[in-house]
Amino acid sequence: MMNIRPRRNRKNAAIRDMVQEAHLGVEHLIYPVFLKDGKGVKEEISSLPNIYRWSVDLLLKEIEECLKLGIRVFDIFPAVDDALKDQTATMSYDPDNFYLKAIQKIKETFPEVVLMSDVALDPYSSDGHDGLVENGQIVNDKTLPILAKMSVAQAQAGIDIIGPSDMMDGRVGVIREALDREGFSDTSIMSYTAKYASSFYGPFRDALNSTPKSGDKKTYQMNPGNKSEALIEANLDIEEGADMIMVKPALCYLDVVHLLKETFPVPVTAYNVSGEYAMVHAAAQKGWLDYNAAMSEMLLSIRRAGADGILTYFAKDFAKSIRD
Ligand code: PBG
Repeated sequence: MMNIRPRRNRKNAAIRDMVQEAHLGVEHLIYPVFLKDGKGVKEEISSLPNIYRWSVDLLLKEIEECLKLGIRVFDIFPAVDDALKDQTATMSYDPDNFYLKAIQKIKETFPEVVLMSDVALDPYSSDGHDGLVENGQIVNDKTLPILAKMSVAQAQAGIDIIGPSDMMDGRVGVIREALDREGFSDTSIMSYTAKYASSFYGPFRDALNSTPKSGDKKTYQMNPGNKSEALIEANLDIEEGADMIMVKPALCYLDVVHLLKETFPVPVTAYNVSGEYAMVHAAAQKGWLDYNAAMSEMLLSIRRAGADGILTYFAKDFAKSIRD
């Protein structure tokens, strides 16, 4: 005699669907896209299949297509020409910056889209680091005013959600204060709160040609062995004014997503990073995994762990898979 037979709740699709706990829809997804200066540019990134560097004219068409699929939130990253990079990332807040102009254009064309940005020096830095480099050290406090200027310039261009990804101490507070001072009190901050020094960012750095010229990011990004430390970061970010907090990468850090979601009342997001996307593509290409099934299972697992929103290169493919 068995009183309890869990299989009864798995008996057929209707029952399984009725008792399913975690759900995933296009509304949860943020689509990261890469922008390049120029016209008519659609450039492949070999380590990120089906993801491109777009010039703004073609990106507008891509965004239109995504909107039809229900994707409304985009995280836009600039792929900057090496010749325009310098040690202090000056171009990041230059009004002539193609990125800032493109943001304006996108918001003019599609006022309903929500645009998120990345705040860190790396796309604009000749050192390829997220903070300012002095004598081989990443200096915290001298980086902060640059991050604040970059954030204000992005808010001015029309960014809805500022995404500090640099992991400098005190950056959320400094950015919040600068935004408020300049009249952008409605601009949100989604902080990269628990951002780990991960090996899964490789394809992204290929996309932006932003691999650090020397050293690694371990003095500012978190140690993959740590979890309690994420609580310290989250406490600080929320106190300093973050509206939403993020864990990155997603898959190796689902326990951290869960912990932050259980501990804090703010929305928690997870960044399903470039390496996680590339792995599935590589295995699917070899016929070792079913692409759509693996993608959906991954994304659902991130929701089950507790993420409200997910940044993912799968956004478009997922949206298509539920439409078809
Ligand atoms: C840089 C930044 C990185 C990513 C997002 N913002 C790379 C890094 O920290 O080196 C990685 C995203 C991905 O791998 O998809 N501030």
